[in-house]
Amino acid sequence: HWTAEEKQLITSVWGKVNVANCGAEALARLLIVYPWTQRFFANFGNLSSPTAIIGNPKVQAHGKKVLTSFGEAVKNLDNIKKSFAHLSKLHCEKLHVDPENFRLLGDILIIVLAAHFGKDFTPACQAAWQKMVHVVAHALAHEYH
Ligand code: HEM
Repeated sequence: HWTAEEKQLITSVWGKVNVANCGAEALARLLIVYPWTQRFFANFGNLSSPTAIIGNPKVQAHGKKVLTSFGEAVKNLDNIKKSFAHLSKLHCEKLHVDPENFRLLGDILIIVLAAHFGKDFTPACQAAWQKMVHVVAHALAHEYH
């Protein structure tokens, strides 16, 4: 369900993403902008202010882990549902994360990419990435029942 142009836009942006930086920034922004998401990370230590969240090494490490996993989806564009089946089960059955949060994180990732790439993040790029984060959120929610 991807056009050749969409695949190209997604992989070319991805090739320039600093996974550690963007992952840390996206997770930190999620925790700051939507503070109720902090409750899933109660064992991450100090999340008491935006500065504390941005400087928190566990937030940084986990953000990198999440975006690295997102990269697996980029490498498997035609098989995202299958490649995320295990993670979907984990987030549902073990972590009890409401799937709405996948959509929130996806939208935040778009903001982070736009902030990093500026005018290179063209409307066509945004459209392809918007579809990408939607497909990932859908795949992660797939094993919920
Ligand atoms: C753990 C990916 C969104 C909450 C993980 C792990 C990965 C991952 C790879 C590690 C799994 C393991 O240890 O085997 C993703 C991806 C997401 C996403 C690709 C969306 C693009 C979210 C959201 C939340 C969340 C939105 C909550 C608001 C958690 C929690 C853990 C976890 C609480 C366990 C953290 C720990 O204590 O180590 N996720 N995640 N995830 N995720 Fe997600």
